[in-house]
Amino acid sequence: MKATAVRLTREHAREVLGKIEAELGNSPGRSALKTVARTLNSDVQTYSWVGVYLVEGSELVLDAWSGPEATEHTRIPIGKGVCGFAAKAGRTEIVSDVGKDSRYLECFPSTRAEIVVPIFNHERVVGEIDIDSDQLEAFSSLDQELLEAVARKLGPHCVG
Ligand code: SME
Repeated sequence: MKATAVRLTREHAREVLGKIEAELGNSPGRSALKTVARTLNSDVQTYSWVGVYLVEGSELVLDAWSGPEATEHTRIPIGKGVCGFAAKAGRTEIVSDVGKDSRYLECFPSTRAEIVVPIFNHERVVGEIDIDSDQLEAFSSLDQELLEAVARKLGPHCVG
């Protein structure tokens, strides 16, 4: 875990969103996914690992990630795990304690909490942002608001 990780504040969420909006101006197409993963991971202390998956047929396929190590879950069937559930339901899932959620597919032994935010394009789920935290109950409605705003910006970058 990043030392003394503190949860997101409204002010910091606004700063991070502003930075991402500025960066997306210089990140055409799919390159935006890597940019966003890197910035979220570096700028929000509670985020230990950030990935962006894209929908390909009946699977989620990892396109970009930022964190200390790679995950073995690079392809996840829609409907499986917290990631697959969020893609199928088309709504954000917050897991405060991964040890208590039977849907959870483990990637990293240090993970304690997870948030998965679908990315839409014309009302269709085309991808998602998946974030692991080494801190229990790491994610609040502020994280959800920030990440849903980021996901809206990423929609057009996930298609074509
Ligand atoms: N934990 C996810 C799998 C992806 S890894 O966290 C990178 C899940 O339950 O779907």
